Amino acid sequence: MEASYLSWYEMALRAVNYSVLGLPRTKDINKVVLAGMGGSGIVCDVIYVVLYERSEIPVTVVKDFKTPRWVDSKTLVCGISYSGNTLETLNVVLRSLDLGAEVCVVSSGGRLVEIAKSRGIPHVIVESGLQPRAAFPQLLIAVIKALTTYGINLVEDLDELVGVLGFKDLTIGISKELTNFLKDSIPVIISNFKFYPLALRFKDELNENSKMMAKVEVIPEWAHNDIVGWEKLVNEELIRALVIWDDDPLIEFAVDYLRELGVKIYVLKTLGNSLLSKILHGSHIAGLTSTYLAEVRGVRADETRSIDKYKKFLRDRYTQLRT
Ligand code: PA5
Repeated sequence: MEASYLSWYEMALRAVNYSVLGLPRTKDINKVVLAGMGGSGIVCDVIYVVLYERSEIPVTVVKDFKTPRWVDSKTLVCGISYSGNTLETLNVVLRSLDLGAEVCVVSSGGRLVEIAKSRGIPHVIVESGLQPRAAFPQLLIAVIKALTTYGINLVEDLDELVGVLGFKDLTIGISKELTNFLKDSIPVIISNFKFYPLALRFKDELNENSKMMAKVEVIPEWAHNDIVGWEKLVNEELIRALVIWDDDPLIEFAVDYLRELGVKIYVLKTLGNSLLSKILHGSHIAGLTSTYLAEVRGVRADETRSIDKYKKFLRDRYTQLRT
């Protein structure tokens, strides 16, 4: 897994050359649904925060089997599944097609690509053979490409985006520091709204690669509940705060507040000019940190037996979905 993360720069450079296969039926859309789970679904969250301030039409993330009732022929549904066989995502894609939505997909293969080919819908095929979470830059760039087909532009400078993955020594250095800080802890990852996909991504990487528990808190909501929990920690060594830095008075407040309480805190600053680049660089740090933590903890980063167990349960239990 470490090797996969260390090859993100080269992987992203290849992804820049991906093309979207197939043509849109219509570009006349007035809402967007981004559907995906886990390591594929996080791409939906990233796109969501970028479009939050840019898009004039509503954008929703679906991480479920169910498709919103309002999906119609003017809705663009983008289904993202690295394996192409994730039942939640497949179900949303099939149901959206039933509802006459404009659908596009991003995948390395599986059933999703079969559906795209047989239904003639726009699709981008990414390189196969990786763990889904380790394919993040490819998935992200592939979705950017797919959405551009519909006139939804997420990035001004693709070279700058990819470029943040080139600072390998710096990224390794920060990841090693973080490994030291987070080992033997239950991390609480705190960010503002803009950076919540990075906080979530960090948690997911610690869960899946390092087999650790972690939680995410998002400011300003954090300041209306979780903030109080820090007043009397059960174990001051165990609970550690990882704050995702942004030039934002609310983040400054959170850092000062936690420091005053004597909480063990690491403030993570990421590289990049745009929000997207900063999230991508932070995700690179999260990936490497989680594989180093896996090593320290004596676990295999590439194995996710519990997820396999859940997916088997779904396959055995549900032969037909799409309600
Ligand atoms: O990172 C992982 O391995 C998981 O979180 C998967 O991404 C998740 O189970 C969904 O699978 P897929 O990405 O193939 O749709």
